[in-house]
Amino acid sequence: MPRYAITTFGCQMNVHDSERMHEVLRRAGYTESEDPKAADVVVLNTCSVREKAEQKLLSEVGRLAKWKQKHPEMVLVVAGCVAQQEGERLLGRSQGIDLVLGPDNIPELPRLLDDIGLGAPPLVRTVFDLEAPRFLTALSVASKTPTAYVTIMKGCNERCSFCIVPYTRGPERYRPSAEIVAEIAGLVEAGVREVTLLGQTVNSYRDPSEALPRAPGASPDDPDESEFAALLRRIAAEVPGLARLRYTSPHPRHLTPSLLEAHADLGVLARHVHMPVQSGSDRILKRMIRRYTRAEYVARVGSLVARLPDLSLSTDIIVGFPGETEDDFAATLSLVREVGFRGLFGFKYSQRPYTPARKLADDVPEAEKSERLARLFEVSEELLGAHLQKLVGSRQRVLVEGAGKEGTNAWSGRTERNEIVHVAGAEGLDLRGEIVEVVITRANKHSLQAELSEEARAAAKPLPSAPAAPPPKPRVAGERRSLPIVPVGGG
Ligand code: 5AD
Repeated sequence: MPRYAITTFGCQMNVHDSERMHEVLRRAGYTESEDPKAADVVVLNTCSVREKAEQKLLSEVGRLAKWKQKHPEMVLVVAGCVAQQEGERLLGRSQGIDLVLGPDNIPELPRLLDDIGLGAPPLVRTVFDLEAPRFLTALSVASKTPTAYVTIMKGCNERCSFCIVPYTRGPERYRPSAEIVAEIAGLVEAGVREVTLLGQTVNSYRDPSEALPRAPGASPDDPDESEFAALLRRIAAEVPGLARLRYTSPHPRHLTPSLLEAHADLGVLARHVHMPVQSGSDRILKRMIRRYTRAEYVARVGSLVARLPDLSLSTDIIVGFPGETEDDFAATLSLVREVGFRGLFGFKYSQRPYTPARKLADDVPEAEKSERLARLFEVSEELLGAHLQKLVGSRQRVLVEGAGKEGTNAWSGRTERNEIVHVAGAEGLDLRGEIVEVVITRANKHSLQAELSEEARAAAKPLPSAPAAPPPKPRVAGERRSLPIVPVGGG
């Protein structure tokens, strides 16, 4: 049986796409190889959101191409956003690539591999599925872990001036709500407890089948209104067995009254929202074409927290955008404090091809960008640290995702606010996929230490004779980003 290996760079959407590739390859009779060097087909699933990620890919291709000179039978596939962005040009830039595959062309992968096996020259397949968008599922992969991603839309109609995603992922396409609900119901049936809805601007969702009633709070005249809240309500009503529901990444513009109402009403929605803000300076937000002001952002997330005071917010921020002065950056720092983010992904601005901001001079020196990023992380670590410290001694409910560090006998999981919790005192117990009550004993820098509560210990089931194997970890070769509460965001 031919063997394959997939290495994933970048965001959740890419991790999810890799799962789709596993699925189509397995169905076509391939088996996975842990070691790319032992594989007949090597897939690099790439990210191009920042230049560093793209360079990483090219050096990885270089390494594999060298290996391939001695093993010419190996088939090298470049998939994902760099594939979509560069298409045929990739073949000129790197020797040894057999197939360039766009994110919408994953279903065609086995057929294209067959063609290559029959001696086809290097192939490029990067066509958006605009007419009949396809959303693949990967039940067999997801059912092994208690958490799963479900794509509800793809592409992006925003035109943020820094961002290459509209170019690499195309215009917005939505999945019919019945299909989404059916996939989630299937996952829950297979043992999944928590689902994260995925999309590039996930909360701009509209149902192409027009099967959703208007959600409470939705005004037909509000141009920012979408059918996302209505979708959340349908999922909550039709999949009562689902324990937790998250989504990523939303756009602040679509944090409308209907979404607020959904958060207030639906117990299944996690008390954590990752809401990328990018900057705290109105001047920079305008140049970024974010289409909201600082005050609008603060008002929108403020009304969410006013309704749900225990809700945690996390965000994405870019430092060193063209023209960002020390005053602009100070405004970003003050916004981070004002909102009190408990998780933050920070990035140095990186000029990307095909983006509107390419016309602006990338004029903040690299050293200045690094310095601003360090100052930003200092503030966000302080905020997260203070928050975690406050939880010491409290009781929390943790969805256990898998075994903790090897040899520690511990389990780890997350609260609904997305704090990472390491659970001790569970020797011999099988907690995977359980929501258990714990007592927080200590705050680490980015996570919490806890003991299983007496009640939870008494109710837990024992491990089958041998300790359960940890859930399969996808190989993710993305950049180190920064500080969690591991926001699940970043598409
Ligand atoms: N430079 C730096 N960061 C970027 N992001 C997107 N494009 C760029 C860029 N050109 C960041 C944004 C986005 C996250 C996924 O990546 O903060 O929310």
